Amino acid sequence: MLQVNVIRKKNVATGICSFELVLAEGGPLPAFEAGAHIDVHTPNGLIRQYSLCNDPAERDRYVISVLRDLNSRGGSDAMHGDVQQGQLLTISEPRNLFPLAEEATRHLLFGGGIGITPILAMAYELHNKGADFELHYCYRSEDRAAFRSDLLSAPFSSRVKLHDDSGAQDQKLDAPALLANPDGNTHLYVCGPNGFMNYVLDCAHEARWAPQCVHREFFAAEKIDTSADMSFEVELVSTGKIFLIPSDRTVFEVLDEAGIQIESSCEQGVCGTCVTRVIQGIPDHRDQFFTAEEHAANDQFTPCCSRARTARLVLDI
Ligand code: FES
Repeated sequence: MLQVNVIRKKNVATGICSFELVLAEGGPLPAFEAGAHIDVHTPNGLIRQYSLCNDPAERDRYVISVLRDLNSRGGSDAMHGDVQQGQLLTISEPRNLFPLAEEATRHLLFGGGIGITPILAMAYELHNKGADFELHYCYRSEDRAAFRSDLLSAPFSSRVKLHDDSGAQDQKLDAPALLANPDGNTHLYVCGPNGFMNYVLDCAHEARWAPQCVHREFFAAEKIDTSADMSFEVELVSTGKIFLIPSDRTVFEVLDEAGIQIESSCEQGVCGTCVTRVIQGIPDHRDQFFTAEEHAANDQFTPCCSRARTARLVLDI
C-alpha cells in the first residue's frame, strides 16, 4: 500500500475529474507500464480500480481520471464528491492486466469515452519506444471527451483519430474497415463502455482476428439475470474440503469467510485478479475477463462472480 497526496484535482470533461497523485513522503513512485491500474481506497471505504493515464516514463506522479457514474455503487461519487486537493489517499502499487504485446510490430488502440485512460498511457509508451501505432478515440460529444486537447497537442498527434458520435457521419468510427485485414503482427487494444467494446470486439471476431492479437479491458460487468441461480459445491484439491455455495453467494465470499484467501479486486468479473484454476467440473462463466476460447477451455474461472454448471467444481486451491 502507498500513501499518496492528491496534489491536483480538476474537471477534464463533463462528468470526469482527473486526480494527480504524488507519494506523501516524497520521492519517486513505483514504476508502471502502460495499461496498469491502481486500487484506490475511497473515503467511504470502497476499493476501486482506476487506470493510470499519464506517461509511464514519469516517476514523480500518477494520474487517474474518474467518470461520475450515474449508476455508481459509491466509488465514483466518493472520488468526485469527497476527495479534495491536498487530501491523503491510500492506493495499491500498480498492477497490469492490460499490457502492450512485446511481439507486436504495430498497435491499434481503440478508446471509448473514459476508456481512453489506459489507451493514453499506451500511446505515450509506444511513442517513447518509437513504435508504430494508431489511436482511435470515440466519444459522445466534445464536452465529454477527456484529454482531447492533450491528444491533439501530443507529439504523436498525427497518429490520433478522433470520432465524435454527435458529429458528421464521415468521421465516425468505421471498425469493420479498420479491422478488415488482420496480419497477425498488428495487435488490437480496446477499452471503453460495454456497447463500444462489444461493437469493436465483434468486428474483430468477424474479420477473424487471432484471439492472441486482441486485448481488452472492460470497466463494468454486464447485467446478469441471477434469478435462476442454484447452489453448488466447491472442493479444494489441497485439503479435499467441500464448501456449499448457496444460490445468493459467490465462491469468493464463502471461501473468504472460511479464511481461504483469494486475491480479488473488482469483484465483478472484469479485472482477472481472482482467476483460479478449475481441475474438475464445468464453470458457469459470468466474467468479461476471459476470451470465448478461454471460457470454452473451462480450466479456470473467476470465483468473484462465476458459478458452476456441474454439481461440484474442484479447484486448484
Ligand atoms: Fe476481478 Fe474477480 S476480482 S475478476
